[in-house]
Amino acid sequence: METNFDERYTLPGVETIDDSPEKIAAKMARIRELAEREDAVILAHNYMRAEVQEVADLIGDSLGLSQAAAETESSTIVFCGVHFMAETAAILSPDKRVLLPTLRGGCSLAEAITLRELRSMKAEHPDAVVVAYVNTSAEIKAEVDYCCTSANAAKVVNAIDADTEIIFLPDMYLAQVVRMQTGRDNIIAYPGYCHVHRMIDPEDVVMLMRERPGIELLLHPECGCVSSCMQKAVDGTLPQDQVYFLSTEGMLRHIEASDAQEFAVGTEVGILHRLRKEFPDRSFVPVNPEAECAFMKTITLDSIIATLEIGGPVIRVAPETAALARRSIDRMLAVGR
Ligand code: 13P
Ligand code: SF4
Repeated sequence: METNFDERYTLPGVETIDDSPEKIAAKMARIRELAEREDAVILAHNYMRAEVQEVADLIGDSLGLSQAAAETESSTIVFCGVHFMAETAAILSPDKRVLLPTLRGGCSLAEAITLRELRSMKAEHPDAVVVAYVNTSAEIKAEVDYCCTSANAAKVVNAIDADTEIIFLPDMYLAQVVRMQTGRDNIIAYPGYCHVHRMIDPEDVVMLMRERPGIELLLHPECGCVSSCMQKAVDGTLPQDQVYFLSTEGMLRHIEASDAQEFAVGTEVGILHRLRKEFPDRSFVPVNPEAECAFMKTITLDSIIATLEIGGPVIRVAPETAALARRSIDRMLAVGR
């Protein structure tokens, strides 16, 4: 089976916004005023533009934002992230209004697998338990047993009987990390990937780590270089005790607990704003400064103002699909981090 999302998906470019600091401050004040009026909580993923992170009530990874969406008391959620994340919020909070500032925020990974492909994998492995990464559509989540995020994938897999075969989808690199972390060899992976994390290259990693001894490497498990970096950590090309596979929020927790001064960050570059703000005495180098998710960057201060002013686009999931998808998400939330 071959993944062919490149043919299915048109990737947008990243729009440059050149607002003055005064203009940014005025837009942020307008957003806070509208959020108050609309009883809205603003949730933002770690890859958001700096000014979007600054105006949000809460910034986090997929798991943290799902938990926040399940627990919030506000009647409206403005989801500054990509479509599948807002869908997850709508599934968890069916009585709330979930606004996604722009419908252009898709995800190449979530688009990779089709329902037809999933059904054919299930038919080939009828006794397998299916675990889907949260980067999937609601209709895929409705057809699987468990959902997981990069923060809890190994924990979710470990909750399944060791002798049971697992279909893991749609990210083949995360599947490799889960194999390593759980020691299981009965994981069948769908061959999908994120086009942004695939750009994070093992040669860049090796060069950075050679140039800067003592630097710790924080790699998101979606990175195209995960298996090669694992191999290099085992054969000594990379210092094993300085290589970590972490979700975006996991990176923040790791830095807090680490004594290192310098970190090579292998993920989407939007997270650097938060890292530099929360850890001003440490330094951060992106493994690939061009690893930018254009989907995440479709959300701007202007689009947040517009969504709050017009009350749309509202993200809705059909009740039958939502009820089925909710089971796999609730199983994940029960496992936790
Ligand atoms: P996290 O769950 O680590 O935030 O990752 C989400 C994502 O889309 C990574 O590309
Ligand atoms: Fe999807 Fe990749 Fe963007 Fe994450 S970085 S939202 S996986 S396209």
